[in-house]
Amino acid sequence: MNTKFFCLIVTLFILGNQGYSQKDNSFNIKKQLEYCAEQASKTLKVIPNDGTSPRTVPNGSSEWKFVTYKDWTSGFWPGELWFLYEATKDKKWEKEADKFSRFLTPLSVSKAGDHDLGFQVFNSFGNGYRLTKNPEYKEIILKTADTLATLFNPKVGTIQSWPHNKMGGHNTIIDNMMNLELLFWASKNGGNKKLYDIAVKHAETTMANHFRPDNTSYHVIIYDFETGKKIKGRTAQGYSDDSMWARGQAWAIYGFTMTYRETKDAKFLDFAHKLARVYLDKLTTEDLIPYWDFNAPNIPNEPRDASAAAIVSSALLELSSYTKDKNLKAEYLTKAKKMIVSLSDNYQSHDVNSAFLLHSTGHKPAGSEIDCSINYADYYYLEALLRLQKLK
Ligand code: GLY
Repeated sequence: MNTKFFCLIVTLFILGNQGYSQKDNSFNIKKQLEYCAEQASKTLKVIPNDGTSPRTVPNGSSEWKFVTYKDWTSGFWPGELWFLYEATKDKKWEKEADKFSRFLTPLSVSKAGDHDLGFQVFNSFGNGYRLTKNPEYKEIILKTADTLATLFNPKVGTIQSWPHNKMGGHNTIIDNMMNLELLFWASKNGGNKKLYDIAVKHAETTMANHFRPDNTSYHVIIYDFETGKKIKGRTAQGYSDDSMWARGQAWAIYGFTMTYRETKDAKFLDFAHKLARVYLDKLTTEDLIPYWDFNAPNIPNEPRDASAAAIVSSALLELSSYTKDKNLKAEYLTKAKKMIVSLSDNYQSHDVNSAFLLHSTGHKPAGSEIDCSINYADYYYLEALLRLQKLK
């Protein structure tokens, strides 16, 4: 090779890498956390004093839609407040987090409505207990875990996710993997040991039935109530029964990574890597924020789902810590950071509204929550920022 050309290539390579690492180092996590605290302070000023909490800001509006403790997303806002307390150690956030968590107390003693009890009670009281060790929170978490376990069907080997919506059998949705964390935690913190077995069985049954041969996830699996056999895979919030709904795959990556953390069973770790692999390989967007469904028909003219990116970035940071493969670890870390930087640079709400992020998609087929701000995107974004900060 011509020497000058060789030198040019080496120089470009070094500059390119410097450019990346400078950009990487210039990413200021503290600044992003301060931004989240400022936005949350604005939100606190507009929440009605009626036990509700903020869920969504529709596209084109600047005003939150508020929900009661019964809504599946009711745990995310108190969870964000706990994260802000963790980030700042400012008692102001602890007081607000406690207040908004306590609104959810009835969930621990009501009949189980659906699988979302984990999202609701573990993201609120679970974070609260982690940070304060308040025994009242623990009591509520343990009772809720027992409530969630009532939805377990031993003939199938999974929790029924939506008892109110039979869909022709016992339904289990991939999102349900996230709620196993509540059961694992309870089984290890004074609750019934059987909760651990239920969580493991749910994860094993899901691993066996919920995925296509290429490791992409169905949203919903319908099982026969009596025989426990799988009837079919279908969608509810994705584009089609056979498509890869972005948030569904995100829940799967996060859920199996968490299940490995709780069980240390290598089969769950191997599987989490496979789920991450197909997600990363199919991700075609330059900024690593996915379209709401990887098979949506009008890509690139389809809405994004920032919430899926937030969930995946947080999961990849954890998954990176479980591999000794240097290349894989570097890939997970680089891509997770790039997702977090993209969300921070180009998806923050600032003056549009007081959420943290724009551009999430909740339920496109139902025409609801399209390209808007949603509390679970904010929750996992904040979690990812805190995880990144701990890594550094
Ligand atoms: N768990 C419902 C959703 O992800 O939209």
